[in-house]
Amino acid sequence: MECCQCQGIESKFDQAYVAKQLEQYQKEGPKKTALQLIEALQAEDIHGLTLLDIGGGVGDLQHGLLKSGVSNVINAEASSAYLEACKEEAERQGHAHDIRHLEGNFVDIAEEVPSADIVTLDRVICCYHDMPQLVSLSVQKATQFYGVVYPRDIWLIKLFVQIYYNLRHRLQGDPMRIFVHSTEEVESILRENGFMRHFHREMGVWQVVVFKRQ
Ligand SMILES: C[S@@+](CC[C@H](N)C(=O)[O-])C[C@H]1O[C@@H](n2cnc3c(N)ncnc32)[C@H](O)[C@@H]1O
Repeated sequence: MECCQCQGIESKFDQAYVAKQLEQYQKEGPKKTALQLIEALQAEDIHGLTLLDIGGGVGDLQHGLLKSGVSNVINAEASSAYLEACKEEAERQGHAHDIRHLEGNFVDIAEEVPSADIVTLDRVICCYHDMPQLVSLSVQKATQFYGVVYPRDIWLIKLFVQIYYNLRHRLQGDPMRIFVHSTEEVESILRENGFMRHFHREMGVWQVVVFKRQ
């Protein structure tokens, strides 16, 4: 992965960091925001649908949605450590054969990634600098639903992210940056691609949103 942010992703989400995330998932289950997204999708008729989960981490959404009746999953993941952790957890939960893993920056590998009924990006948009490319290429893969968890773009959250994360990372020489992208810009790309907001919930820093193809 060439880009600076992608190098940041690979070094930030290293084996030690990911091992802690996996341990936490195995102890506590999916994060509250992931659980909310799973529940919002469960409220739809998703039995037998396919899922493309971009930047799935240890696989909170993938494991949860497979249990909810999704037929199979593609995990497109930039971090090799997360990819291995997701495979390990899928083995443990007994559905490894239902997940296909593709490693790389989704924006670079988009052409080789198949479409799916549901596309999800759980806390991924905030890790990527080129939001328009990430969102437009990913929504083009969705045939029915597009589910996201990303930060609310209010000034307090922007300030917190700049000071607490980005300044600290800069001072530590860490290339990873967090981005609070404009909600209106994200949603206008989705509208242009035929998707309208169907479910929305604010949860602290985060917003959990499901868009449905009209
Ligand atoms: C904050 S973690 C969230 C992981 C998981 N979705 C969760 O909520 O626990 C961000 C994830 O997005 C992945 N990611 C960020 N940008 C990506 C891109 N352009 N293509 C593929 N994966 C990406 C990272 O590797 C990482 O797994």
